[in-house]
Amino acid sequence: MSVPQLILTQPDDWHLHLRDGEILKHVAAFSARQFARAIIMPNLQPPVTTVVQAVEYLDRILAAVDGSDFEPLMTLYLTDNTTVAEIIAARKSCFIKALKFYPAGATTNASAGVTDIKHCHAVLETMQETGLPLLIHGEVSDHQVDIFDREKQFIDSVLQPLSKDFPELKIVFEHITTREAADFVLESSDTIAATITPQHLLLNRNALFAGGLQPHHYCLPVLKRETHRQRLLEMIRSGSPKFFAGTDSAPHPRHKKETACGCAGIFSAPVALEIYASIFEQQQILDKLEAFTSFNGADFYGLPRNTKTVTLIKQAWKIPAQYSLGSDTVIPFLAGSTLDWKLI
Ligand code: DOR
Ligand code: ZN
Repeated sequence: MSVPQLILTQPDDWHLHLRDGEILKHVAAFSARQFARAIIMPNLQPPVTTVVQAVEYLDRILAAVDGSDFEPLMTLYLTDNTTVAEIIAARKSCFIKALKFYPAGATTNASAGVTDIKHCHAVLETMQETGLPLLIHGEVSDHQVDIFDREKQFIDSVLQPLSKDFPELKIVFEHITTREAADFVLESSDTIAATITPQHLLLNRNALFAGGLQPHHYCLPVLKRETHRQRLLEMIRSGSPKFFAGTDSAPHPRHKKETACGCAGIFSAPVALEIYASIFEQQQILDKLEAFTSFNGADFYGLPRNTKTVTLIKQAWKIPAQYSLGSDTVIPFLAGSTLDWKLI
């Protein structure tokens, strides 16, 4: 009997952290192996705020994936001080595809983020006019607000008004985690879409504490209640073109995760496509996988769909316990567990 296989148009990762330096050299190939393109997050230290910095970072990524035809889709980090001239320069460059809005202090390397989106209105006006998308980390950073409510609060206090003020602005609500976010995107116009990560489809917040504190399940936005996860699954079952794959793969060295004050971020790059496939199979919607991984994002960004294909076979394999980062190691998402689908 032949092994069941899935042939998909090559997917893209619409939300990826590749880091820089030694880590970049070790992690980039995992994404290049699966994905044709990826939207590269700019939250380096210091952040990628200018076109000049982005082109330099692009060169370092291309060197790290030497010989592959992986295409990094670069982004700029929005700050209170981003200028209209920088937006125009970004638009003129062919390789910058979006601006990333981190509310100041909301997550890893977000201290240079936006303190009040009102500071960015002229820039947003230009982005709206020129069709440059805004990618949003949708959580308020007010630490008085319960961490499980920060996404909902962001929708009410920032995103709703923003989408009214800039009705034509293309917005990607990144890594949505709640019913409220799913409903907001579903009910909004076609200018607003969302990425969904493997971890938010697969796990609820119990996974943070299962058998003890689980640092490798800690990311931001933090995992939510099961009812929210169920709503995200409904979104992928709906087949709505507004939702697409964005892994948010965010590698941190092991010692920065397994420590008294661990970093947020889940490293899913080596296993992301296989995990999405397993989730879609479990939901009995394998026929909807290709649109989610390979069509919806490209269509939203106005980019051509990929023409090559990738093949997954139904073959159990064990996710390694760790990967090398040179002098450090990184623990992948679901380390040591078995997956049913394997990319060949
Ligand atoms: O968990 C996360 N890690 N969420 C983010 O928003 C940033 C990311 C990172 O850069 O580590
Ligand atoms: Zn991210």
